[in-house]
Amino acid sequence: MLGEQKVVFSGVQPSGNLTIGNYLGAIKNFSRFSDTYKTFYCVVDLHAITVRQVPAELRRRTYETLALYMACGLDEKKNTLFVQSQVSAHAELGWILDCYTMFGELSRMTQFKDKSAKHAQNINAGLFTYPSLMAADILLYQTDVVPVGIDQKQHLELARDIALRFNQLHGDTFTVPDGYINTDTMKIMSLAEPTAKMSKSDPNPNAVVYILDTKDDIMRKFKRAVTDSEACVRMAEGKDGINNLITIYRAFTGKTVEEVEREFDGRGYGDFKEAVGEACAEGLRPVREEFARLSADKAFLESVMKNGADEAAYYARKTMSKVRRKLGFVN
Ligand code: TRP
Repeated sequence: MLGEQKVVFSGVQPSGNLTIGNYLGAIKNFSRFSDTYKTFYCVVDLHAITVRQVPAELRRRTYETLALYMACGLDEKKNTLFVQSQVSAHAELGWILDCYTMFGELSRMTQFKDKSAKHAQNINAGLFTYPSLMAADILLYQTDVVPVGIDQKQHLELARDIALRFNQLHGDTFTVPDGYINTDTMKIMSLAEPTAKMSKSDPNPNAVVYILDTKDDIMRKFKRAVTDSEACVRMAEGKDGINNLITIYRAFTGKTVEEVEREFDGRGYGDFKEAVGEACAEGLRPVREEFARLSADKAFLESVMKNGADEAAYYARKTMSKVRRKLGFVN
């Protein structure tokens, strides 16, 4: 809580190339918190360097990620949008919370295990303490609710444990955050292999639809989507490809399953795939156009970052002065 207001915080990696799965499952939901909560959305460049980055690309993707989130509906006047490394309190509290996070806890993190297997040449200390920095992000703003994907559940639980531990040792300091994990949000599956989740790093270019794909790309990908041999558009067990296309179509048109089934009664998969492609391309058109407009205006993006960082730093400072006092740091 900040004053009377409940707080939402989430962090996003500056990784670019977001898919319609990211869009429908997460990003599209972010904007609906801003009417009832004080919302902070942060591009986490400090987290990004736990794996090697090409500096020029990291810089470009930081702008792009901000522009993309704004293009997906996050209004900079209603949400505090900022870049993590521009608010130094994140690194500062990150260090402090390192000292309240146990080696054993960090060793149990599945993301650490996965990433250290993937980057065996660079298992650096930052990769290991990634979750305490994430806890710092969250706790700095006295966050109540953290919307994240299911893959971040373990990190979130650790952030709660760290908050509780600190509060127990030093008295009430941090709000203990809750996760908001939207498990029933549409899980969008790969177009090529509809039993697997659509993943931005899928090597098969036809499996994944990216938010910024052109209409031609989108139409082509849906045309090639894997279906079944029944030739009947209906939701049913075992029809993973068609089920996935129905889900995507519904998400972009707002129609119910029955409406979709009725609409395509007696029509072939060719027609249906074309309609899904159209709906998706049309639904993403405003995002694509707004992204292009924002990306061309670097000065504006910089002003958003600057205002966001100033605003975030103001609240972060309040928490930091409390923390410094509790720890016995001399002012
Ligand atoms: N670890 C998150 C991810 O990879 C990103 C993140 C960093 C985050 N700090 C956060 C998410 C704070 C929520 C809250 O997706």
